[in-house]
Amino acid sequence: MSVLHLPEAVRLDDEAGVLIILDQTLLPNETVFLRLREQKEIWEAIYQLRVRGAPAIGIAAAYGSYLGVRESKAATVSELAAEFAPVKAFLASARPTAVNLFWALDRMEACLARLSEMATSSGGSSPEVSVAGAKAALKAEADAIRAEDEDVCRSIGEHSLTLLKKGWGLLTHCNAGSLATARYGTATAPMYLGAERGYGFKVFADETRPLLQGARLTAWELSQAGIDVTVICDNMASIVMKEGRVQAVLVGCDRVAANGDAANKIGTSGVAILARHYGIPFYVHAPLSSVDLKCPTGARIPIEQRKPEEVTERWYARRMAPAGVKVYNPAFDVTDNELITAIVTERGIACPPFSESLAKLAAAASPKRASPAPGRASRARTQSAPRGRPARRQPRSRT
Ligand code: MRU
Repeated sequence: MSVLHLPEAVRLDDEAGVLIILDQTLLPNETVFLRLREQKEIWEAIYQLRVRGAPAIGIAAAYGSYLGVRESKAATVSELAAEFAPVKAFLASARPTAVNLFWALDRMEACLARLSEMATSSGGSSPEVSVAGAKAALKAEADAIRAEDEDVCRSIGEHSLTLLKKGWGLLTHCNAGSLATARYGTATAPMYLGAERGYGFKVFADETRPLLQGARLTAWELSQAGIDVTVICDNMASIVMKEGRVQAVLVGCDRVAANGDAANKIGTSGVAILARHYGIPFYVHAPLSSVDLKCPTGARIPIEQRKPEEVTERWYARRMAPAGVKVYNPAFDVTDNELITAIVTERGIACPPFSESLAKLAAAASPKRASPAPGRASRARTQSAPRGRPARRQPRSRT
């Protein structure tokens, strides 16, 4: 089975006027698709992580915002744009860290603003700028966000694969997989492409406390696709690195600041510190929609705080901490750019200094919907050894 047979995390049934999402809170035990119509249902699905992962929540919000005005009785495009604004604000309030949520909603709003402007200047005469035309354009924009994400992930996979060798052990944290995107995932894309091309990767999936995205989701989707995957508790990453079982760490991200600091699921920065200790390259996989050049450093990335129950009882048969005990539950942490070997985007591989390489990639012309040929990936700067303190110990290589 390949990634192409995995269920889609999020899609629109336009005829029925519903957003269909695979409820990721029920995986791996149940495969349940929810049909969501109301804004508050879509907000709840994003907040509760039924649909999750930075690109997937962007796609869900894009479709959600379209559905939010689909039945509007607005008489003009500017009235429709006025109705769109609170829908956008409501969906944007679901989660704060992944910039893709805001990026997708901004893109939807910009699409409507363009049409509203055209409508005003043309006196509303052309069909594209009718209310029906504007609704159709919003759907097309959301479809484009979804379709582009699939291409983007595949390109990220092609670029990432140029950094990896056959037979390598790869460690990943959280789920930056097909479930978190339109397809392929970001950090998992090279794993899927590598599987098709006989790379024989052995993947270690951190279980990813407290919500277990690694154990429940990454292990599920990789094993469905026939990829060799081993679940480890988060506190076992050090031993598998020390034993020489890991040749590269591949993670996704929720937001990359202009200086290359990268927010990803809580625990990622600890994995980066371990990787540096053992001299293992640490690669962040980021669609450019996750790169926030307006955010200068990781210190400015808002970190979502979640409910204590996720730590104390959510996945336990019984509560596992005394009632009333204080709990700190940040959902993300920021990996300092100096711990990151390279950031893999759809337009190429950014190497340190990231403030230069990311800006260069972001400014580059967007490739047409095509993947680079294998081995022809571009790099914004020739890859060099990670900066900062040198690795204290080299891992034993298994290749
Ligand atoms: O809280 P989640 O499960 O939405 O967190 C997701 C992550 O941290 C992913 O690693 C990230 O969004 C990258 S998805 C390609």
